[in-house]
Amino acid sequence: MPCHNARWMALARTSSTLRRGAAPKTAWAFLDGKYLPVADAKISVLTHAFNYGTGVFEGIRAYWNPAHEQLYVLHLTEHFERLHRSCKVMRIRIPYSVAELSDITLEVLRRCGYREDTYIRPLAYKSSELIGVRLHDLEDAFTVFAVPFGTYIDIDRGVSCAVSSWRRTDDNAIPARSKITGSYVNAALAKTEAQEAGFDEAIVLTQDGHVSEGSAENIFLVRDGVLLTPPGTDNILEGIVRSGILKIAEDERIPVSIRQIDRTELYIADEVFLCGTGAQISPVATIDHRTVGDGEVGPITKRLKAVYFESVRGDNERYASWVTPVYTGSAKP
Ligand SMILES: Cc1ncc(COP(=O)(O)O)c(C=O)c1O
Repeated sequence: MPCHNARWMALARTSSTLRRGAAPKTAWAFLDGKYLPVADAKISVLTHAFNYGTGVFEGIRAYWNPAHEQLYVLHLTEHFERLHRSCKVMRIRIPYSVAELSDITLEVLRRCGYREDTYIRPLAYKSSELIGVRLHDLEDAFTVFAVPFGTYIDIDRGVSCAVSSWRRTDDNAIPARSKITGSYVNAALAKTEAQEAGFDEAIVLTQDGHVSEGSAENIFLVRDGVLLTPPGTDNILEGIVRSGILKIAEDERIPVSIRQIDRTELYIADEVFLCGTGAQISPVATIDHRTVGDGEVGPITKRLKAVYFESVRGDNERYASWVTPVYTGSAKP
């Protein structure tokens, strides 16, 4: 019976996640060089990326600030710089600079006119309509769309995690450093395994058994007052929120060590949190049924969270350069 309950709760959680990310009728997209309603943004079943996972993408958040009557896009430039790097690995050529991609995204958002937190999904992909596994001699395309979006995983109470039986893909198999659509099969396998076993999230290890990251989040631990996170060479996505947290830690004079992390360090850490554009900063309460610290959100996690959540809504002067306002002058919805 408890097993059925856990399974039912996991399924309920999954379907509410889908509802949160669904496109409303007012959503706009950019596809094939044109702005159009999301409902009209369609691709063929023959599309190479649909068949073989040969696309790269980003997940970007925009935060509504009711006091400013403004929608702020977080780390817009950094996301498109990473998209360009992912394109390089996957030999995808798109005719847009980082500045042009940013402008297209701002235009999509203005057309949507959202006054709520939003998730933006740009994709660059192999668009040829043919059968044949390769990266060369194919056409490429770019699309971006935006949907209203709340929390992805809990940010308050502390989530339960399980170390996954699925290992993170190695750099020499499917590079985790690049945000490749096909590689998210690995994340999906880990997430579903964890949720169907009654946990909120999965933590994945590298092929040689070191801590890599969450299913779609980077991970931080605190041990003896030092903030720890695995290095880029441990098959993580080099997260943009992770970089932001490292910057806040430096400014707040919190000692940091970027180093390889053993599985059992997860069990004895004083604090653990997951972070990412979707996850934001999500404290971890238990890992493999062991309570993290004393089970409460720890002091370093609390400090980082407070600065982070002020900054993303444009309320912290120090990190004002992190956000780009969408609505200017008469363009306010
Ligand atoms: C596998 C994986 N790791 C880490 C992250 C966090 O990256 P970012 O902070 O750039 O959103 C994500 C987010 O999409 C992810 O999918």
